[in-house]
Amino acid sequence: MDKIRNPFSPGAGAPPPELAGRDGVLEQAEVLFARIRQKRPEKSLIMTGLRGVGKTVLLNEMDRMAREVGYRTVFIEASEQKPLAVLLVPQLRSLLYALDRVAGAGNKVRRGLAVLKSFVGAIKVSFGDVEFGLDIEPEKGTADSGDLEVDLPSLFIAIGEAAEERQSAVAIFIDEIQFFSKAELNALIMGMHKMQQRQLPLVLVGAGLPILPGLAGDAKSYAERLFSFPDIGPLQKEDAAKALQDPVMEEGVAFEAEALEEIFRLTKGYPYFLQEWGYQAWNQAESSPITLQLVHETTKQVIARLDENFFRVRFDRLTDGEKKYLRAMAELGQGPYRTTDITEKLGVESSTALSSVRSKLIKKGMIYSPAHGLLNFTVPLFDEFTRRAIPDDGIFD
Ligand SMILES: Nc1ncnc2c1ncn2[C@@H]1O[C@H](COP(=O)(O)OP(=O)(O)O)[C@@H](O)[C@H]1O
Ligand SMILES: [Mg+2]
Repeated sequence: MDKIRNPFSPGAGAPPPELAGRDGVLEQAEVLFARIRQKRPEKSLIMTGLRGVGKTVLLNEMDRMAREVGYRTVFIEASEQKPLAVLLVPQLRSLLYALDRVAGAGNKVRRGLAVLKSFVGAIKVSFGDVEFGLDIEPEKGTADSGDLEVDLPSLFIAIGEAAEERQSAVAIFIDEIQFFSKAELNALIMGMHKMQQRQLPLVLVGAGLPILPGLAGDAKSYAERLFSFPDIGPLQKEDAAKALQDPVMEEGVAFEAEALEEIFRLTKGYPYFLQEWGYQAWNQAESSPITLQLVHETTKQVIARLDENFFRVRFDRLTDGEKKYLRAMAELGQGPYRTTDITEKLGVESSTALSSVRSKLIKKGMIYSPAHGLLNFTVPLFDEFTRRAIPDDGIFD
């Protein structure tokens, strides 16, 4: 069929033709934005889930929703390289300048800029040529202690007050939130704690791998009180069918029921895989309807494409030891896996000997810890891929 009219969109962050099965979490966001606007308390959101389930797509959609109801928004993507402060400062600066252009009395926006300037001075990181406006002096004694857990909350207060003064609200969107250090997460949590105490209109919407297991003590209990952690998983069968069928119907094409059934069996409802299967099936089909037979014929090709574009990207950067560790996990079937079982599978005496391999795999984003003593792949169906990529040469007999 006409490749140009192919409605599917496999790819990181690519908006799907039909955002199926996410009404619940979208409504949660809608309620959050509206309640904070009305000065009613509400938990901020951190969406957690594996790669390819549609977290980035949801963040973008919520960003749009927030702007529609009068929020000023900031969107950052965490990475291993850049500290939180470096990511936030330029964005918050633009946000304050935008608020400054909104008509209104009061000096809270100017103060916000002064506090931002002192924040920048204190974290002593290089921001290149970022200009902060010539007539603004840093506000000495605020947000300039050099301790992020103290300074970020002060900065949030200044920003929240500035937004409030201009009858606006602020939403900070953070993708890949798991990359932040414990201290950075703590600072964000303390910042949101202040927002709640002072009823200031600033919300945070994050997405990433689960972060709660990595937090401890006060940080953990604050986080549980301040945030709701919706779990973003694979789609239910009906939603998966809708994600495939509705977009092709728009083009006057249909999937046969058995074809949908088979795609669901192969993808287990994971959104990225649904897009990839839909995309290939459309391109291979001669005409409507898309049949079970055709799905069978395209499966090999889809798997090859997934291996290439989705699975192999990170896999090729691993050392042999790291690959072997993953292979041992895959050997145990579906996750999550107990660390002790993996250690045993590898025939190693103590699990401490493997702790550096483990932490490197976590750093590289291949695995994560859903709970103490447990590990899982960050990518759905990665166990199957690992078994395909590394043949079992009897290494675990
Ligand atoms: N609800 C959904 N229904 C159908 N496809 C979706 C849905 N959510 C996301 N997708 C598709 O899944 C893929 C991965 O989405 P992305 O937001 O990058 O996932 P993540 O950020 O969780 O890794 C994209 O191709 C996107 O179009
Ligand atoms: Mg993403």
